Amino acid sequence: MSASTYAAETRRRRTFAIISHPDAGKTTLTEKLLLFSGAIQIAGSVKARKASRHATSDWMEIEKQRGISVASSVMQMLYREHVINLLDTPGHKDFSEDTYRVLTAVDSALMVIDAANGVEAQTRRLIEVCRQRDTPIITFVNKMDREVREPLELLDEIERELGMPCVPMTWPVGQGKTFGGIMNLRTQAMTVFEAGSERLPQDFETIPLSQRDTLMKRFGHEFETAEQSMELAIGASPEWDHEAFLAGKQTPVFFGSGVNNFGVMEVLEALVDLAPSPRPRTSHHAVNRQSVEKTVNPEDPNFSGVVFKVQANMDPSHRDRIAFVRMASGKYAPGMKLKVQRTGKELRPTSVVTFLSQRREAVDEAFAGDIIGFTTHGGVQLGDTITDGASLQFTGLPFFAPELFTTVILRNPLRTKQLQQGLAQLGEEGAIQVFRPQVGGPMLLGAVGQLQFEVVQHRLKAEYDADVRLESSQYTGARWITADTPAELKSFTDAYPQRLAHDAAESLAFLCTSPYDVRLAQERFPKIHFHPLREHA
Ligand code: G4P
Repeated sequence: MSASTYAAETRRRRTFAIISHPDAGKTTLTEKLLLFSGAIQIAGSVKARKASRHATSDWMEIEKQRGISVASSVMQMLYREHVINLLDTPGHKDFSEDTYRVLTAVDSALMVIDAANGVEAQTRRLIEVCRQRDTPIITFVNKMDREVREPLELLDEIERELGMPCVPMTWPVGQGKTFGGIMNLRTQAMTVFEAGSERLPQDFETIPLSQRDTLMKRFGHEFETAEQSMELAIGASPEWDHEAFLAGKQTPVFFGSGVNNFGVMEVLEALVDLAPSPRPRTSHHAVNRQSVEKTVNPEDPNFSGVVFKVQANMDPSHRDRIAFVRMASGKYAPGMKLKVQRTGKELRPTSVVTFLSQRREAVDEAFAGDIIGFTTHGGVQLGDTITDGASLQFTGLPFFAPELFTTVILRNPLRTKQLQQGLAQLGEEGAIQVFRPQVGGPMLLGAVGQLQFEVVQHRLKAEYDADVRLESSQYTGARWITADTPAELKSFTDAYPQRLAHDAAESLAFLCTSPYDVRLAQERFPKIHFHPLREHA
């Protein structure tokens, strides 16, 4: 394959995550994007797979959620000769760690906002992660067919919360009962709203904005008000600057109603026209014990990718797992020999799949930006870099210091081996963080959300036949520890033998019972570094 083919394949790819607060309309919008790109034929298939929006601690719900997240966490569609990879993010806040990791695998994000509620709590947290990584964000303000807030007020709020200016791409005329449609600022035409979910985007009537009399006659006061507020919005926002958007410094804003297929096509077009294709990624790897930084370009012919998600298969009789790899460069072809950088071992998948049209299909070929799933019996962890030989290590997959801890007590001591295997595997999946106290004693589980414990307890029993009791622990936090010299580290570890534990990656952590612990320890040992976040290295 020629270099220009790699470049062309890269250029036509878009990989993005869809983020929102539960109930804002993420599932509906996802479904419509798939429908209008031709990836699915009938509406309802994504929705049908969606678990209860309000996950309870009921096992069925958790199992359902897991099933769904395997089935529809990655969806590929083809539109206007572009390969669009859509990554879903878990809805429940207790699984937010998963969401953060998904965000490391995308080049842009589509943020869905409920026009009645504005920017909600969970969206705020997701925005923070996007901001840290300067991920470009496209904004969709949904549910304009309802009684919602004024568009100017919404724009103002989004701007404040995002910390970046909004540039309206469409503007609503009216809302709720008086919702007349949207004015498209690029095409200078108004698309007229009609309720219903049967209509295809091209079926909506459009009227050029130049026909002001017609529009005034039909929409009267609503149109006039919309014109005025649009002018104010345009006056207050900067000019559209594509580079600023790509740098995460501006967000284009679209209005619509997902459930009514309205304003969705504009978003699909924006994904092709505005969203970035895969960008270079930085690798750090050791050469003669020195860390060497290397930029990996998506059009490099050599395969490289990173595991951003590991999911156990749903079939309990098989211990296999799918490692989701976001390709950073090169081409994947069946039968290719690949290596896991951490272990230097060959990756021997039993199958390799893509997620075209929501079905898992054997992969023919894949390029940078694509997500492929390797089914394995182990040997792959979250954060692993996979290459066709080159020594690379992508960093940046975040692990957050847990805020909740429990100890694991096995009910039947004869199942120790199963428990250890289960915890090791669930730890590798990132379902939970497992800490082994340095002084011995029961294993500690660390989580960011309470539901994670329940899932793990349930899965230990169902998948590993290890019945465990979880007991609350005195710990309320942890910090990963590093030091500049081995001597400094030793003086610290000698001072706190009871407080130290190793996690699944053998990183040393300091366990605390209150925020003061860290402060005190830091004062005593000013040269020790306490990290609230560990990036997979
Ligand atoms: P989520 O994935 O972000 O949690 O949201 P989802 O798409 O499931 O949408 C949440 C609810 O909002 C659903 O209603 C959905 O039909 C509705 N919805 C989505 N987009 C729009 C819109 O543009 N206008 C209006 N009015 N409603 C919208 P539900 O009653 O909870 O479920 P359902 O019975 O309709 O499926």
